[in-house]
Amino acid sequence: MRNSQSKQESKLRYHCVTQLFSEFDNSPLQLINDSHIHAKQVQLTIKRDDLIHSIISGNKWRKLKYLLLSIENLKYKRIAAMGGPYSNFLHALSYVCYLLGWQCQLYVRGYRDQPLTPTLKDCLKWNATIIFVNRVSFREMRMNKPLLADDIYWIKEGGQHELAIPGISEIFSELSDEYDHVLIASATGTSVAGLVVGARKYQPKAKITGISVLNNHQQQISDVNNMIDSRNNNWAIRTGFEFGGFAKKTQALIDFTQQFILRNEIPIEPVYSAKSFFATFELIEKGIIQSGSNVLLIHCGGLQGVRCNSSNV
Ligand SMILES: Cc1ncc(COP(=O)(O)O)c(C=O)c1O
Repeated sequence: MRNSQSKQESKLRYHCVTQLFSEFDNSPLQLINDSHIHAKQVQLTIKRDDLIHSIISGNKWRKLKYLLLSIENLKYKRIAAMGGPYSNFLHALSYVCYLLGWQCQLYVRGYRDQPLTPTLKDCLKWNATIIFVNRVSFREMRMNKPLLADDIYWIKEGGQHELAIPGISEIFSELSDEYDHVLIASATGTSVAGLVVGARKYQPKAKITGISVLNNHQQQISDVNNMIDSRNNNWAIRTGFEFGGFAKKTQALIDFTQQFILRNEIPIEPVYSAKSFFATFELIEKGIIQSGSNVLLIHCGGLQGVRCNSSNV
């Protein structure tokens, strides 16, 4: 009796996950009309993944899609994940769990007595449980997951998971044009790995470039290599656009962000997208991306973070 009840529950949850999938359209493409880019005879198109959904935006939906189905099939009842107090991934995950009626437990770097960020306020509103951990324990958690009950599924920081790869790789199935270069902001390297896998299937000539937004590019390279067939070398993680490190910024980045938003009416934020957009413009201007190239830049969202940094954008 209990068995058939849990089967029914499982079917219902599976239905909810697949139902969620069907509600998302392909993200639109937007051509950039900019004299600097035209002067270099480059065509630059933005894949507006930030428009996939107002909350589960950017690479989050793509990262979560197959992971959620698998979690469902494995019959876990709860999900736990770790991240910073502004984490886009925790934000999206809490919302998805809320929609699906799943329990969500978040291990957040910080202290209980600090004011809650808008990100964490949303997570609480969506019924997530927050457990604050100090920096030392947080670092330790990156290596070894915390002790969890057997029915809790653990997801690493930033949604780093091999099941994120098929979701990200599907970006290519939404493209009709052929691209010479595809660029994306990179932190864990998971999105780059997904694009490398997608390019291999759909556009083997496209070169994938991850713009590192933090000072750990060696780690990203080794993680990408672990996630994909390392014989594929049509990809790179580019450094030099960290602007001091994760969530750090300079006046040049702030100026670029403001001007880009004004000229193109595409919202970007300083932690991820602005760094990858700045880098793309510079690579084109310096001729590192050669003239005549057709370039796709993926907007990974992350705009909920702007609420915490609005004075800087
Ligand atoms: C908005 C945004 N862009 C880009 C990234 C980097 O993606 P990845 O961790 O897959 O390298 C993240 C982190 O997940 C993010 O939140």
